[in-house]
Amino acid sequence: MSDNLQNQPTASLQNPTLQLIELPTAPKNASPVPELTSIHSVRRRGPYGDGRYRGNCGGYLIRNLLRYFQPKRVLDPMSGSGTCRDVCRELKIKCDSFDIRRGQDATNTASYAEQNPVDFVWMHPPYWRMIRYNDDPRCLSNAPTLDDFLNRIQQVLKECKTVLTPNGKIAVLIGGYSDRGRYQPLPHLIVERAIRENLWLACTEIIRFQHDNTSSKKQYRSSFIPGLHDTCLVFESTKGGA
Ligand SMILES: C[S@@+](CC[C@H](N)C(=O)[O-])C[C@H]1O[C@@H](n2cnc3c(N)ncnc32)[C@H](O)[C@@H]1O
Repeated sequence: MSDNLQNQPTASLQNPTLQLIELPTAPKNASPVPELTSIHSVRRRGPYGDGRYRGNCGGYLIRNLLRYFQPKRVLDPMSGSGTCRDVCRELKIKCDSFDIRRGQDATNTASYAEQNPVDFVWMHPPYWRMIRYNDDPRCLSNAPTLDDFLNRIQQVLKECKTVLTPNGKIAVLIGGYSDRGRYQPLPHLIVERAIRENLWLACTEIIRFQHDNTSSKKQYRSSFIPGLHDTCLVFESTKGGA
């Protein structure tokens, strides 16, 4: 038996679903938010947004990112129930937000016409058609093909870049999923689209454990490897070189 297994509590050896995950020790550094690492695992969602809104994420990852990058103004162009807005309110950071459900389309240049420059964009799009948010054909969850979905994501990145300050960051939270029998690695595909817009990863990708999501309460007949995380990608402008 390896040391690792010996260290696991007995219950976790009998039932692998109770297995504890031991995280590696992060190197000490000058980060103002030492708990922000490439793995984010917080079960509580915090007093932010509305947990009943489908596809919603908790507020603590956003909170850590804002404390780390310390923007003066934030934009959330797909705000849903307003998790990012609520975190910004707590941290006393100005936040502009809109959503197609209130009529503003993040792919449309006109939606940014009055927008002040921002140092940070929080972008939490639909994971293509995993959840259908509404019947509006402009909604990214209604994109008829994967290529069309990625074109729209690329367009949103392009628009957000037009209102981003030179050292600004665009954070995208997205996950892969199996769509009609084919796995769609959306984070990887979005990195490729971001590069086309001269955006590059500003730091490590952050793996966010999805505690208590809807699928964790279901039972499936088919066999598959469950995905338990989504990925946060933080981009910055390549400033002409990459
Ligand atoms: C994953 S949810 C965001 C949840 C949000 N983070 C929250 O705090 O509840 C994705 C959101 O993207 C919005 N959306 C989809 N297409 C859009 C578009 N073209 N323009 C603006 N918002 C869009 C949906 O209406 C939905 O609210």
